[in-house]
Amino acid sequence: MRRRPRRLRSSAAMRGLVREYHLAAGHLILPAFVVEDLDSPREITAMPGVRQHSLDSLRRLANACAEAGIGGIDLFGVPAQRDSRGSGAWDENGILNQAITAVAEEVGDDLVVIADTCLDEFTDHGHCGILDEDGQVVNDATNELYARMAVSQAGAGADMVSPSGMMDGQIGVIRRALDNAGYPDVAIMAYSAKYASGFYGPFREAVDCQLTGDRRTYQMDPGNRREALIETLLDIAEGADIVMVKPAGYYLDIVADVRAAVNVPVAAYQVSGEYSMIEAVAARGWVDRERLIGESLTSIKRAGADVILTYWALEVARWLAEGRSL
Ligand code: PBG
Repeated sequence: MRRRPRRLRSSAAMRGLVREYHLAAGHLILPAFVVEDLDSPREITAMPGVRQHSLDSLRRLANACAEAGIGGIDLFGVPAQRDSRGSGAWDENGILNQAITAVAEEVGDDLVVIADTCLDEFTDHGHCGILDEDGQVVNDATNELYARMAVSQAGAGADMVSPSGMMDGQIGVIRRALDNAGYPDVAIMAYSAKYASGFYGPFREAVDCQLTGDRRTYQMDPGNRREALIETLLDIAEGADIVMVKPAGYYLDIVADVRAAVNVPVAAYQVSGEYSMIEAVAARGWVDRERLIGESLTSIKRAGADVILTYWALEVARWLAEGRSL
């Protein structure tokens, strides 16, 4: 035997020397939830270890993120009042816009401040867009509301907006609106290949989601692979700066396809269900929690993601700072 691949696995140092993919804190984004009228953080039962934040505790969290050297924070707002159009979404004093301003004030340029740009947290029916008389989600009129939302988020101090509603043409409409409003430098991270996934289950509790039914008329069918490239290339043509695949861990083929097809940075969102499954099985003592977290994230990197959104961002950044190999 001339070739013995095991030679390069003989010690931790040897394995480290030849490792192809590494996690880096600067490539991680922490999704965070802020709730209107909340006095102190509240545990999310379905996501052990993740909390809904008050404006104050969100400020502290943002500082911790900057200190830990992670790349960004992605903010989701949970309003006290909802209506059919989700008008709290573009209200200057709405909870999400207040949160953006608070976080931007705290961290300045030390952390990329990202805002979720979607109506589902703000509508009383829980859909990502407005509905017609038959209850169908209307595409183009919804885009106009996304544009208002994105402009208000830029005004509040967001560095990047993140349209997640999967309406056709949303990126182009938002890009034009930002440019016309004097925000040409605000970036867009597009949820490009976002699937109608059961893995978003725990997130429903995190944002107190009002949805009955599902999002299958706008989010992608999990049975489709090639379609992810149609969606992604459209978003790039419309002006997306970063494209995203979501969920991540069960969609590594999609991450790899997208990576091979584009030259812009690719993000992948390790969603609530991916998080909670590992937490749940680790809590029963059936797996090594830290190993599974590291392995799940490394696999997403290996598939081709440059940027990873994960609820473990802060914890993983601290592990990396301690020099642990994940
Ligand atoms: C909707 C949105 C969802 C998530 C992020 N943005 C839920 C959905 O599309 O149903 C899910 C994130 C997660 O599960 O962690 N704008």
